[in-house]
Amino acid sequence: MKKNPFKPTFGSIPFAMAGRESIIEEIIDGLDNAPGDPNRASIFVGERGTGKTVMMARISEIAEQKGWISAHVTSGRDLLEEIVVQVREKASHILSPETIRRISGLQIAGSAISFSFSEERTTWRSEMTRLVKELNESGTGLLITVDEVSAKDESLKVLIDTFQHFVRERRDVAIMMAGLPSNVSSLLMDERVSFVRRAFRHDLRAIEIPEVAYALRDTVRSSGRDIDDDAMWYAAELTEGFAFMIQLIGCHMWRQNPDNRIINKADVEGAMEFAKKHMESAVFEDMYLELTEREKEFLFAMTFENETTTISISDRLGISPNNVTHIKKRLLERGIIVSAGRGKVSYAQKSFMEYVERIHSRTQQA
Ligand SMILES: Nc1ncnc2c1ncn2[C@@H]1O[C@H](COP(=O)(O)OP(=O)(O)OP(=O)(O)O)[C@@H](O)[C@H]1O
Ligand SMILES: [Mg+2]
Repeated sequence: MKKNPFKPTFGSIPFAMAGRESIIEEIIDGLDNAPGDPNRASIFVGERGTGKTVMMARISEIAEQKGWISAHVTSGRDLLEEIVVQVREKASHILSPETIRRISGLQIAGSAISFSFSEERTTWRSEMTRLVKELNESGTGLLITVDEVSAKDESLKVLIDTFQHFVRERRDVAIMMAGLPSNVSSLLMDERVSFVRRAFRHDLRAIEIPEVAYALRDTVRSSGRDIDDDAMWYAAELTEGFAFMIQLIGCHMWRQNPDNRIINKADVEGAMEFAKKHMESAVFEDMYLELTEREKEFLFAMTFENETTTISISDRLGISPNNVTHIKKRLLERGIIVSAGRGKVSYAQKSFMEYVERIHSRTQQA
């Protein structure tokens, strides 16, 4: 039996990255370019399962092939220490023995650092400056990726502040960040990290359906099977351009009749039920839980028609158009709804609309 090439696992780089080529190219160009290129500070924003982690992983993979050293951290988990440890491991062939010895003995407490073998105290910034300088002198750049950024993370602010100095000193560095829309918004409000506001922001919205279709087909073919055109377009439509759904539908359509060479429309139909269930438990449940009561009511009020105006929601909910506009703005920012022109909005994913409808009527009955 042929191996299923789809990977419905968070953080797994897919065989084919649908629809993100141009962003990736732009950023890689920025890395190839001289220090100071604005693409060297980028932030990816999107709801769960839109492909943020994978985007950064793919960029680092390419960067490493080009000789960059990269460190990957997640906000909130000893970020500063972790960066030093990863640089030490990955750049051991570049750094001087003295530097390696030095950073092996350091202990980090906040932004201050002390060495276990001496009384010396220094700062994370000065140690990182030393590391970056040594890397750059050998022609190597340093790329740092920070996943799941959060405004509550003090270490992240130290990192951003330090990075800003590196940029000013025109050092060969780059930083990629990723986070949920609400977390990025709160981070951007913090004056101390105003630098992040100048970072290139990439909102990971729905991927174009043709891009999805070809990625599905390429992935199927990579593992020795094929998919007919009907099935390919049908499956692509069903994903609604949502990254995680590409892997889910792909994975389940593959499983329907694994011994048939060609995947057909019936396989896609059979896959849908499983994919939806998986999507609900892995993405929609959390997305729904994070909504305020008002946002839930707003979204439920939107389930009556495909496109809704602010006025009709205001009527349905009995709240002022101003308040409605405020809620609408937040939901647009999160990418849960999209503008449908002339003041109208619609759901970014119809499958989420169905979910809201179902959950809402269930809670009303209870
Ligand atoms: N461009 C893409 N084309 C096809 N599949 C993709 C693409 N981007 C991501 N995926 C797939 O979508 C899933 C989710 O990706 P990823 O883990 O990067 O999401 P995320 O935005 O980081 O989610 P979370 O916020 O929950 O961490 C993975 O299974 C991944 O393989
Ligand atoms: Mg992620």
